[in-house]
Amino acid sequence: MIEIAPSILSADFARLGEQIKTVEQAGASLLHVDVMDGRFVPNITVGLPVVKAISRATRLPIDAHLMIVEPGRYAESFVKAGAQMVSIHIEADPHAHRTLSAIRAAGAQAGIAFNPATPLSALEEAIKFADYALLMSVNPGFGGQEFIPESLEKVRRLRKMIDERGLRTRIEIDGGVDIDNIADVTGAGAEIIVAGSAIFGAGDPGVALRKLREATVLWV
Ligand code: DX5
Ligand code: ZN
Repeated sequence: MIEIAPSILSADFARLGEQIKTVEQAGASLLHVDVMDGRFVPNITVGLPVVKAISRATRLPIDAHLMIVEPGRYAESFVKAGAQMVSIHIEADPHAHRTLSAIRAAGAQAGIAFNPATPLSALEEAIKFADYALLMSVNPGFGGQEFIPESLEKVRRLRKMIDERGLRTRIEIDGGVDIDNIADVTGAGAEIIVAGSAIFGAGDPGVALRKLREATVLWV
């Protein structure tokens, strides 16, 4: 099943509750929350108190994307704060098995995220311990960047790697997805589609979300 996950990074934070309601009513499946620490990425966003507040304000599952160093120190706390999905970056964690296992043990789905220049071979082992793989199609840190075209081929290779190994890992894609490329990324095998500026940057986020959904293509 293809799921659209609006990224609140591009939302109006002064009207966050209202913006969340809009995408909830328009049929969003998840809410993507970008946690940045100013160290792993050159930007600082939100943390635990905001995830806690959002979880009280919506029925949508929260998909927390941790772009932080030493994610093992905080991953479980994000589950306790209300995130049903928590992803950590493979580049930030030499103990990814331990952290992914801790996320699962705390009751959430565990995701392994990786940057555009990180090869799929870096996931070889870690992918076995993850429920989803988050493929970055921009360099993490900011919303509104342009989709890196080579990411499409990377999705196809990841899809092949997962299918050939008989894994059930889902592919999440994040960065620069819009109405012009969502058919390609879903056709290539991505199932969870993050979209920030394509939704919250539009005049009507609800309409934008529906249009994105209509443009998806199932790869099978
Ligand atoms: C980037 C974040 C993304 C971002 C996507 O570091 O991980 O989730 O919000 O925004 P768009 O869809 O505008 O590229
Ligand atoms: Zn993200």
